[in-house]
Amino acid sequence: MRAMVYRGPYRIRVEEKDIPAIEHPNDAIVRVTRAAICGSDLHLYHGLVPDTRVGSTFGHEFIGVVERVGSSVERLHVGDRVLVPFNISCGSCFFCARELYANCHNVNANASAVGGIYGYSHTAGGYDGGQAEYVRVPFADVGPTKLPEWMDEDDAVMLTDACPTGYFGAELGNIREGDTVVVFGAGPIGLFAARSAWLMGAGRVIVVDHLDYRLEKAKSFAYAETINFSEHDDMVLLLKKMTDYLGADVCIDAVGAEADGNFLQQVASTKMKLQAGSPVALNWCIDAVRKAGTVSVVGAYGPMLTSVKFGDAMNKGLTIRTNQCSVKRYWPRLFEHIQSGVLRPRDIITHRITLDEIAEGYHMFSSKLDNCIKTIVVPQAA
Ligand SMILES: NC(=O)c1ccc[n+]([C@@H]2O[C@H](COP(=O)([O-])OP(=O)(O)OC[C@H]3O[C@@H](n4cnc5c(N)ncnc54)[C@H](O)[C@@H]3O)[C@@H](O)[C@H]2O)c1
Ligand SMILES: [Zn+2]
Ligand SMILES: [Zn+2]
Repeated sequence: MRAMVYRGPYRIRVEEKDIPAIEHPNDAIVRVTRAAICGSDLHLYHGLVPDTRVGSTFGHEFIGVVERVGSSVERLHVGDRVLVPFNISCGSCFFCARELYANCHNVNANASAVGGIYGYSHTAGGYDGGQAEYVRVPFADVGPTKLPEWMDEDDAVMLTDACPTGYFGAELGNIREGDTVVVFGAGPIGLFAARSAWLMGAGRVIVVDHLDYRLEKAKSFAYAETINFSEHDDMVLLLKKMTDYLGADVCIDAVGAEADGNFLQQVASTKMKLQAGSPVALNWCIDAVRKAGTVSVVGAYGPMLTSVKFGDAMNKGLTIRTNQCSVKRYWPRLFEHIQSGVLRPRDIITHRITLDEIAEGYHMFSSKLDNCIKTIVVPQAA
């Protein structure tokens, strides 16, 4: 089969690989009909995620058709069209029993923090991902669900990560009726977080980024006020001025460790490797939220971040909530929102490519070219 393959930082290509085999009786093999490239894939692409091995296939956002099932799989059958969440989870451990599928204890021998994620390095279990024609889906009775007849395939692939993660980011914000919510990052995650904040009762939603075309999307898709941080010397002061000098009730970090906006932090992280990433967006959240407010962190961070303003967070009495999203937990509510027309996740898709165009696809998304927000990969042009 054809599959995206990592060759080292900024180097990926399409290669011929064996079609994955059933390795355990609870596996399924899925033929991918749509995959997507995520902001999380960029951290891999930039070589920032430890133990990302040459030869591995990325892709944790995909839907497809069941081609084969292991002997103990009961819920899925050959020919079923399925949505697969980015989390791999066993369904029965302490964490899965509490719907913390992202923190499953049985699927990742390499770490005690995160569970398993498709195509996300050996720190997330070393599973190959779905930017390929076929993918092995472990615990096939646990994660995947059948695609409802009425659901559009483009909406479905947005439901494997970006849409639920944004919704989860808003939920972590403990939003109360009338709250002012500031979302840092106008990528797919930030856009869905901003849009979801309204569903949870926000009275005002402000999105911060430095890419005007994405801020335009934040206006049209998420009905948000917007700020381009490159046009302001002091983001925190500006946000304080906009919120009666109290600060926002809720700040959401939908940027993660590759934040722009502070030259020194960037040099310390990307050039001098003094810390694994830049905490600019996280520190803006801590500074711009009001005392006793909530900071929600869905942007991804690696293990070592040294200059987070934790003392300020402590003294302000902040609630900081964070995790990888447990995607499956949000499906019932999001399915309802999509069926009733409240949400149309496919509205953020800007590009559609074949597997053979994947290297250009990564380059375009990484460099934010051609007004790229979200790219769909269709492995077999059909
Ligand atoms: N928690 C989870 O389960 C989960 C799931 C998916 C993605 N993520 C993470 O969420 C983050 C966003 O993902 P995405 O797909 O939207 O990525 P993306 O790269 O498309 O978007 C990130 C945006 O942040 C902007 N940005 C950079 N520095 C900023 C700053 N200082 N302030 C405000 N905005 C800034 C960029 O211009 C860009 O538009 C990534 O770190 C990704 O790994 C987490
Ligand atoms: Zn993703
Ligand atoms: Zn589990």
